[in-house]
Formats: sequence, C-alpha cells, structure tokens
Amino acid sequence: MTFDRSIKIAPSILSADFADFGREICAIEAQGADWVHVDVMDGHFVPNLTFGPPAVAAVRHHVTTVMDVHLMIAPVDPHIDAYATAGADILTAHVEAGPHIHRTLQAIRAAGIKAGVALNPGTPAEAVAHLLDLTDLVCVMTVNPGFGGQKFIDMSDKVRALRAMIGDRPVHIEIDGGIDPATAPLVTAAGADVLVAGSAVFRGGSADAPAAYGDNIRAIRAAATG
Ligand code: DX5
Ligand code: ZN
Repeated sequence: MTFDRSIKIAPSILSADFADFGREICAIEAQGADWVHVDVMDGHFVPNLTFGPPAVAAVRHHVTTVMDVHLMIAPVDPHIDAYATAGADILTAHVEAGPHIHRTLQAIRAAGIKAGVALNPGTPAEAVAHLLDLTDLVCVMTVNPGFGGQKFIDMSDKVRALRAMIGDRPVHIEIDGGIDPATAPLVTAAGADVLVAGSAVFRGGSADAPAAYGDNIRAIRAAATG
C-alpha cells in the first residue's frame, strides 16, 4: 500500500448480502471500489453483533484491493493477532474501547499491518493528538457506531482540526457513517480522503445486477471530488 490523499471509496460489506460475500466483494471491486470496509461488532462495545476472525479470513480470499477492518469491539488487544492473521491490511480500533489505545496501536503495527484509530462523534480530535506518529489512519465516525443506514452527523469541524494536526504525516482521514453524494463533499472539503459507504453503495443493486453499485460509487466520487 502506497500512501496518497486521492479520494478512496470504501464500501462497507455491512450492507451486502451476508450469505454471498464473495460475489458481493467481486461486484463492488469490479464496479470501482478502492478499498473494502469490514465492520466487526461485538454486541458489547456496540449494540450490534456481526462476525469474527474466521469470517474475516474467508472474506479476505475475495479482496484484491485493500481490506480495511474496523473493530467495534472491547477489549481489542487480545484479538489483534487473530485479525492480522485473518488478513487485514488496516486494523482500526476505537480510542474509546479501552484505557491503552497507545499500546493497542503499537501492537497492531507490531503485527506487521497498518494501524487506524477511530473516534466516536462525541470524542474530540484532541484525543488522537499524541497518537499521530503511531497511526496510519484516523477514522471519524459520522454516526454512532453499530448500524448501517443512520443519519449523517456533521463532523466537518473535527475533520478540519485533524487535517491541521496531521500536517504532512502520511495519515489518512476516513469518514464512516451516512456518506452519500450529498454528505461526501462536506467531508472531503474539510480534508478527508477515505469515504466508507454502506447503504449508499449497495442500494438498488445486487451481485446479479451490480451496475447500480457502479452508478452509486461514481456518484459519491463525483460529488466528493467536485
Ligand atoms: C457503522 C459502521 C459503518 C456502516 C456505514 O457502525 O461502522 O461502516 O456500515 O453504513 P452507512 O454508510 O449505511 O451509514
Ligand atoms: Zn465501519
């Protein structure tokens, strides 16, 4: 993975057909997805429950771009090696998930993969001020994590603050939640470069009829890049 700040669309497979991840991933990549976003939820840190390392490892076989794994779990540290072994290219942990996020980021990098840190809507940008040399990606949540299809919460001021704090460090700013062609330009104008989108990518299509995925991805990208 080489670093750049071009706009990247990362469909979340939370909105895909869970019984058909292989064909769904093949479809979104063929239709222009830059990364594949994988939402891991534990029914504890967030109210919803998705899947664990064996399912992530199975998904990995179908990803030819970048597998971006978003851990909405607590604790994180006992599970890092399992998700690294499952094939995550980037492993993102929440700053709110425990008292030792610094240690968590060190452990993710020690596993040989990129480390991301996510911020819930109520958490200020300053929470990552001392982590920027340990991280490859800051994920700004624009919904309260747990479910797809929620309403966008505008965090543009937080994104602007992060963009200034990051300076010329090779750190991505990712936005997760409620991204569609209307909201994408607000966050890219503020400095974001990775846009996660679940419902806005998968709506209207299927693995058998994937053209809508392409239309949806192009619409978000066109809006985001002005
Ligand atoms: C929310 C997840 C998101 C979610 C985004 O907890 O982290 O990745 O799937 O879904 P949309 O784009 O529908 O808000
Ligand atoms: Zn996510």
